[in-house]
Amino acid sequence: MTPTPRNRAVSTRPDPEPCREQDLGLFEVKKRDGAARIGRLHTRHGSFTTPMLLPVVNPNLRTIEPRDMWERYGVEALITNSYVIWKHENLREKSLADGVHALLDFPGAVVTDSGTFQSYVYGDVEVGPEEIVAFQRDIGVDIGTMLDVFGRPDMSREQLEHSVEQTAVRAAPSLAEAGGGMLLNGPVQGGLHHDLRAQAGGLMGGVEGEHRGFCVHPIGGIVPLMEQQRYRELFAILLAARSALPPDRPVHLFGCGHPLLFPMATALGADLFDSAAYALFARDDRLLTPNGTVKLAGLEEWPFTSNALFGITPEQVRSMDDDERSEILAHHNLEVTQAELARCREAIRSGTIWQLAEQRSHSSPQLREAFVWLQDQMDDPDDGPVGESALRLIASCDPLRDGGEPLGDDIEFRPHILHMQALLATRWRPPGSWWDSTSEPPARIVLIEGAAPPWRNSALHAVVQHLVEEPRSIALVSTPIGPIPFTLEDVSPWCHLTGPDDMWLGIYDDDEISESLRDLGLGDLPVTRVMPDPPPPDPPDQAGTVREWLDRCSIVDKLALLCAVHPLEACKITEGMSARRSRTDRMVNVHAEAAHILSPRLTDGGISLALEGARRLNQAHRSPPPEFGMEGPDEVFVGIPRVSLIDDAIPFVGKGRNVIHGYVSGADPHLIPGQPCLVVDSHGGLVAHGTPLATPFEMAFLRKGIAVKVRDGAMRDAE
Ligand code: GUN
Repeated sequence: MTPTPRNRAVSTRPDPEPCREQDLGLFEVKKRDGAARIGRLHTRHGSFTTPMLLPVVNPNLRTIEPRDMWERYGVEALITNSYVIWKHENLREKSLADGVHALLDFPGAVVTDSGTFQSYVYGDVEVGPEEIVAFQRDIGVDIGTMLDVFGRPDMSREQLEHSVEQTAVRAAPSLAEAGGGMLLNGPVQGGLHHDLRAQAGGLMGGVEGEHRGFCVHPIGGIVPLMEQQRYRELFAILLAARSALPPDRPVHLFGCGHPLLFPMATALGADLFDSAAYALFARDDRLLTPNGTVKLAGLEEWPFTSNALFGITPEQVRSMDDDERSEILAHHNLEVTQAELARCREAIRSGTIWQLAEQRSHSSPQLREAFVWLQDQMDDPDDGPVGESALRLIASCDPLRDGGEPLGDDIEFRPHILHMQALLATRWRPPGSWWDSTSEPPARIVLIEGAAPPWRNSALHAVVQHLVEEPRSIALVSTPIGPIPFTLEDVSPWCHLTGPDDMWLGIYDDDEISESLRDLGLGDLPVTRVMPDPPPPDPPDQAGTVREWLDRCSIVDKLALLCAVHPLEACKITEGMSARRSRTDRMVNVHAEAAHILSPRLTDGGISLALEGARRLNQAHRSPPPEFGMEGPDEVFVGIPRVSLIDDAIPFVGKGRNVIHGYVSGADPHLIPGQPCLVVDSHGGLVAHGTPLATPFEMAFLRKGIAVKVRDGAMRDAE
């Protein structure tokens, strides 16, 4: 017997647990990579993980049974159209009597649209804004949609202003009609106008209902753009809308369901997708793949397979009758769609979502054009909402990550690399004093070239030799993405670059070198270019002293670069420093004045504070503890970023429990997710230290999940 999607064994999956009453409608961010995030949205029919696709189910024509989606594919939520249900008497009666979950035979979360798209296609709908929300509520929908006013990309500015305004006018009455039980989508219109998209985001995001505001913000009016493959405009709209939307709500791309678009959309912060593409393309004998669409006609083998197609040939599928063929192709399409979203989620977990978007950008010229435009925005952001979002995206990226960093033409535009380069350009300073205890200005630069990482093995001896020769030398290492101080030799991404061996042999011309030295503020110094020879059998007498000085410079530089600690302050904190070394001769525990202050991280070159280090860094702080809404001082070295806690949480966090969203009263604007921070009380007293998982902007909004993963509570000893 030919195995078909229908006759394969399926396990029975239990029905979902309703969320806790207090969590209804809350969005929790579990993991992030720049703007991309893995979230959980909590509903009465279970919580679902984002980024995810809501498969569109036509209640009159179910190509794949919703129950099958739940059991076989683990689909946690789907979307159907409440206007279609409302218009068909049999569906209306049944859903009003038994509820929409029974109508569809689906136990997970049911999202409904409102008829706006029908008004775009047919010109009008026969239902009013409040009536359709009340209907969605009455049939037991989990997340309904208000009747927004569709703004087509080709409309005049006046028409689009009207669509934004009219949608906003309907927002509060729609929320009132939804009541306390049903969550509501608040769509963002505005056509191609970035300012209108931002205005709509602000308006819709700011509406407060008696029970809650909107819980999801779909970006509307984009279907025509996707049909015409106008991806650059699509992503610009997403960035513009996100600049003004509250960050504690998922963003949904209405009608977007081609897997080709998922990596890039996800990298820019889209959380939800919906589409009937899996069924529509199947009916048209087309197969979805992560790189585009393939026609069944003429295929001898599957260019991209799936569980649904495994074991059957294209010829066998072509010979099936229409229903059977479109069913099997729909299963394939849904599987591919789900698999690509799983790939995106994994890429977020491993910090590689931008690289996945970069790879996929080569799948179509239109997508590549959009990606190149995005790179330009990252490198040189526009004034306005798009640029604002691009800057926010870069600042929200953890600049460090373990694992390889593959070299490629686009490498310098990856947001975490741009972030790291910006930190290097603004926060790195030449040493203030030298290993021989002199403190005159630097005399020269020693640029190590032609050496591969780890540079502590390939170049340390050359650095030491040149420092012995001239103590006032600044040692830099040349890398394919620009020179870096030797003191940061074990920091990712530089030390993790992967590519052909000869990438380390790249010798740059004098002009290129001068330009990158200018970026580091070192434009005027003479440069000695060095290709390291093999290490000499006997190191110079001063090697030990030079090495200790380099070790201390490395800690000072990392505290400055990653934590915004003033280099002079970092010097004070590391006075009398000593370090325990690993078997591979790397610093593992750093002590100063007999206390363990921090540990360098071997995986990515970052630092993990110890409690005593956190105490000393907190004592060095001059500015008051942060409060939301307050601007930080306009200086480069404002001290290690802090998160302030409301009093209720202090006993828990002080003993080492994580900081939970909702208990935060402020966060320094320069806080970087993934890099060390302090947790303080309202007087600035140290409560704990740890790693922030959200940006300061997000901390002001999020109400569920972990804000700071605490390493150590400052009140543990008091137990
Ligand atoms: N489906 C596709 N686009 C839209 C839109 O702009 N609004 C609504 N409500 N549904 C959509």
